[in-house]
Formats: sequence, C-alpha cells, structure tokens
Amino acid sequence: MERTFAIIKPDAFAADHAGKILARIYAEGFKVVGLKKIFMSKVEAEGFYYVHKERPFFGELTDFMSSGPCVVMVLEAPGAIKKWRDLMGATDPAKADAGTLRKEFGTSIGENATHGSDAPETAAFEIPYFFSGLELLG
Ligand code: TYD
Repeated sequence: MERTFAIIKPDAFAADHAGKILARIYAEGFKVVGLKKIFMSKVEAEGFYYVHKERPFFGELTDFMSSGPCVVMVLEAPGAIKKWRDLMGATDPAKADAGTLRKEFGTSIGENATHGSDAPETAAFEIPYFFSGLELLG
C-alpha cells in the first residue's frame, strides 16, 4: 500500500467540483485516509512549493493557492502516487488526456484543479506538511 498527497485546488473548489472529484477518487478505489478543507496563507503556499521558488511562475502559483479554500487529502492505494497522477492528467489541461481530472476541471496550466505528489520523497514531505499522524488514523 502507498500513500500520496492530493489537493482539490482553489479553482476547482470555488467552482463546486469537489464532490465530483471525490466521487472519482472513490470510484477509482482510493481510500481517503485524510481529508480537510483549509485556506492556505501565502507563506504556507510558499513553503509547500519551495522547490519551485526560483521558477518564473512561483509568485502567481502561490497567490493562486492562497486565493481561496481548497481540500487537502491523503489517498491510499497500491501505487497511489502514479495512480493519482494518471487520474489527474498532464499539468496543462489543454494537453491532458480525455477523462482526466485536469482535462475535465482545469482551465489553464496555473489553474489546473488538482495537485498530486510526484514521487515517494515528495509525498513524505507533503503529507506531514498538512496532516499530523493523529489525523491519519483508521
Ligand atoms: P509542476 O510540479 O511542474 O506540475 P505538477 O503540478 O503537474 O506536478 O508545477 C507545479 C504547479 O505549478 C502546477 O500544477 C501549476 C503551476 N505551473 C504554472 O503555473 N506554470 C507553469 O508553467 C508550470 C510548469 C507550472
């Protein structure tokens, strides 16, 4: 079993797509180990995305992620990291395959509806960034 960290980003949450995205998550067989709605501060978004701090889109990305509430989750499944990234689709919704979440709910490369850890080391940083061990019991 593997765990990954996922976000329903502020664009998708504001557009009331959270229920549909969660339905897909359950339909694909993930166990939702952790789930909460949060409203990230700019500083929290900068800390979360610190690996991108030198990228030209860092300011825009962290403004967007702190622009409204989002849903943060820990998903569990065999091969959860790849399974969730496959379900999300490509970073740019215009290039994402049909049937993926970013194709269906994303509107631009910046406002692309969902986030998912890209490797085990990333999940190991991202899960405890937002969840304590006590929130992931059961
Ligand atoms: P990245 O880690 O490359 O993509 P992914 O989310 O698929 O792992 O980038 C992180 C986020 O940064 C991405 O989801 C949206 C934003 N972003 C931009 O706004 N512009 C860009 O050109 C890129 C590459 C990413």
